[in-house]
Amino acid sequence: MKILGIESSCDETAAAVIEGSGQNSLRVLSSVISSQIDIHKQYGGIVPEVAAREHVLNILPVINQALSQAKIHHCFSPLTKGRCPEGRGVLDAIAVTVGPGLITSLQVGVETAKTFGFAWKVPIVAINHIEGHIYAGLADKFPVSDIQFPIIILTVSGGHTLLVLMRGWGKYETIGGTRDDAAGEAFDKAAQALGLGFPGGPAIAQTAKEFEPRTSNFELSLPRPMIDSKDYDFSFSGLKTALIYAIKDDPNYKLRITNYSHEFQEAVVDVLVTKLVKAAKAYHAKTVMLTGGVSANARLRQVLDEAVNKDLPGAELLIPDLKYTTDNAAMIATAGYFHALKKDFTPWQDLRAQPNLELI
Ligand code: KG4
Ligand code: ZN
Repeated sequence: MKILGIESSCDETAAAVIEGSGQNSLRVLSSVISSQIDIHKQYGGIVPEVAAREHVLNILPVINQALSQAKIHHCFSPLTKGRCPEGRGVLDAIAVTVGPGLITSLQVGVETAKTFGFAWKVPIVAINHIEGHIYAGLADKFPVSDIQFPIIILTVSGGHTLLVLMRGWGKYETIGGTRDDAAGEAFDKAAQALGLGFPGGPAIAQTAKEFEPRTSNFELSLPRPMIDSKDYDFSFSGLKTALIYAIKDDPNYKLRITNYSHEFQEAVVDVLVTKLVKAAKAYHAKTVMLTGGVSANARLRQVLDEAVNKDLPGAELLIPDLKYTTDNAAMIATAGYFHALKKDFTPWQDLRAQPNLELI
C-alpha cells in the first residue's frame, strides 16, 4: 500500500510517500520538506499570514517532487487512459494533517488533499499532527509487531508538550501536558531573550555546547518548575521569566551566553526526563518514546537514554531519526498507513482543517 502524506500545519510544507505491507515492512520512498525558517527568522517568529502564502506557493512543487522521487504517477489522466506507465505505482491513500495548527496553514494542505482525492478518486485519511509525531518514532522501527505496550510518549514541539499513554494501536490517553508554554516555545522565547535568533532550540543547543564549566566561576541556577509535582504536568513560563530576570540583573550577560544557554537547556531537560521516567515507571511502560521538534536536542536524547538504562531496565526507548523529529510528512503518511489498514477514511466533502484538534 502506498500513501502520500501532506503536512502544512505550521511553517514547513512537506510531502512524502511511504510504502507499507501489513505490520511488517514500511519504507519511506520520499520525504520532501520546504522550510520557511529563513523567511520567519526576520520577524523573530512565525507570522501566520506569511506562512499560509508560502504554503500556497510551495505545496504543488513539494508534492510533485515527493511523487516523482517515489516513482508515483497518477493514473487517471485521459492521457494515460487509466494505465500507469511501466514501473510507476499508484497511490492507495492520501494522509493529510487536519490539526492542530495554524488554520490558514492547515487549510492549504487540507484543500490540496481534497482536490487530489476528488480528482484521482483516492481515499483520504485525516491525521492529527500530534499522532503524526508519535508515528515518527515508529517510522524506522518495523516490524511494529515487536513493539510492546503500554507505551509512554512525550511529544515536545513548538506548540505542544504532551505526555501520552498508549495501551494499544490508536488508543491514546493524555496523562499530562503543559499548563502554559510548550517546551519548544520556551526554547524559542529564551533564545529571543538571549539574542540568539529563531528557531531557538537549535540555537540554544549549539551555544550550550560551547559552555566550559571549568573556566567559569559564575554561579547560575535556574528553577526546574513542577519537577516534584505529583501530577504529570509541566510549566515552562516561570523558567523563561527566571532567565529574563537573571539577564536583567547581569550587565555582562552577553559574555556568559554559553552559561545561560547551558543552564536553561539543563533545566528543561531535567524536568522533561524526570517526568517522563516517572510516568513510565507508574504505568509500567514497556516502551518509552520521545517525539517532536525538541526531541532533536542531543542533550535531551543523551540524558533520557541514560535515565532509561538506569531506571527502567527492560524498557525500550524509541526516538525518531533526526530527520523525522521536526515537522515532516513521512510521519503523517506513517500514521495514515495505520488508519488506512482499518479503512478509516474521510470523504473529501467532510474534510476540515481543525486548528484546535485534540489527540483524544
Ligand atoms: O515539531 P516541530 O517542528 O513543530 C511543531 O509542531 O511545533 O517543532 C519545532 C520546535 C521549535 O520550537 C524548535 O525550537 C524546537 O522544536 N527544536 C529544538 C531543537 N530543534 C528544534 N529544541 C531544542 N533543541 C533542538 N535541537
Ligand atoms: Zn510538529
